[in-house]
Amino acid sequence: MTLPNKIMVVDDVPSILTFLKDILTEANYEVDTVGSGEHALARLNIFKPDLILLDNIMPGMSGYEVCRKIREDRTNDPVKIIMVSSKSKLKERLRGYETGVDDYIGKPFDENELLAKIHVFTRLKNVEDELVDLNNQLNEQVRIRTQQLLDAEKMATVGRLTAGIVHNLNNPLQIMMSISQLLAIRHPDISRITDLRKACDRMQGIIATILNTGKRENELVPVQIDLNEVLQDLVEMLKANHFFKYKIRTKMELRPLPLFRGIYAHFSQSFGNLINNAVDAMYYQNEGVLTIQSCVTDQLIQIKIADTGVGIDADKMDMIFDPFYTTKPLTVDDNRPTGTGLGLASCQEMIASYSGKIKVVSQIGKGTTIIVKLPIDAC
Ligand SMILES: Nc1ncnc2c1ncn2[C@@H]1O[C@H](COP(=O)(O)OP(=O)(O)OP(=O)(O)O)[C@@H](O)[C@H]1O
Ligand SMILES: [Mg+2]
Repeated sequence: MTLPNKIMVVDDVPSILTFLKDILTEANYEVDTVGSGEHALARLNIFKPDLILLDNIMPGMSGYEVCRKIREDRTNDPVKIIMVSSKSKLKERLRGYETGVDDYIGKPFDENELLAKIHVFTRLKNVEDELVDLNNQLNEQVRIRTQQLLDAEKMATVGRLTAGIVHNLNNPLQIMMSISQLLAIRHPDISRITDLRKACDRMQGIIATILNTGKRENELVPVQIDLNEVLQDLVEMLKANHFFKYKIRTKMELRPLPLFRGIYAHFSQSFGNLINNAVDAMYYQNEGVLTIQSCVTDQLIQIKIADTGVGIDADKMDMIFDPFYTTKPLTVDDNRPTGTGLGLASCQEMIASYSGKIKVVSQIGKGTTIIVKLPIDAC
């Protein structure tokens, strides 16, 4: 329900104040009456009117002076002012407009004409208020987006630095590998040396994955992609996350898929966001199961990402693909999941560019399954 518009009536004649208050209240406006210009200025911040009906000739400050003061001191206040005056010759009306009056009505006035003018100006004020709100929302979205771009730029720099560091780790690792191999030959009976060799092999695998993924993320040309490999790499990288490693059991059921022609980053980012969403949904549980399946059915590549998390309300289902829709805070001081609400919106756009579709099946308290379907003939 919308709130009634607020009207402040300023007049030094009590009977006019009472009359106007009655007809305006009858017309569903919230009304405040004041008997002088000085009193009106003092009450502006308290009552916050949408419109002021301002008598011109009053003892003390005149209507012109009150209007000029409001327009000079409150440049951002979009309040509408209608001057009500027995002096309504063209010259006086023009003077009123110069001081910032929006409209003029002569005394004695016709009640219906006054109500019609008030209706026009309160409607205009409401539209202006909506525009201001919209503008504020847009500014907020631009602020968030700019921050994301700055963060992305920072991440890109961090990424380049990381790639350099990871690359440099290869040299000492090669030395460790050679020595562990040598030790393993000389002391085949010491099982710890075999463990050391296995750890070195694993580190080499992680380094190769990071370097390869980073390289492919930057290639913005279509290539033949093994979607199963993308999923495996994403899960491999998630293992660095403490929560994921200890609280989430991952089931991978990947069937052979044809290579899919596309931009690598589109799939690593889309699947990455879907997997992150699934992991986030299980954050407040002691343990969760993430199931990732792939198969080919009816000429469609199907990727299913299922979680046993909080689920999605049926009435929110239509909103989750809207840009900026999120139930996660933007920033936190701890490790709780954060979000901007752009993940699914960009996922949908990227998958749709390959004529693909995303389907969501969810049950509150049970979990969510996201199914990505991609037509094989687009390969
Ligand atoms: N698997 C899921 N389980 C429960 N809710 C989900 C799941 N996936 C998405 N959602 C809901 O949809 C919202 C929008 O998801 P989306 O990926 O677009 O944004 P986000 O994850 O909040 O932020 P980000 O921009 O970082 O991805 C989430 O905030 C969450 O409420
Ligand atoms: Mg997300």
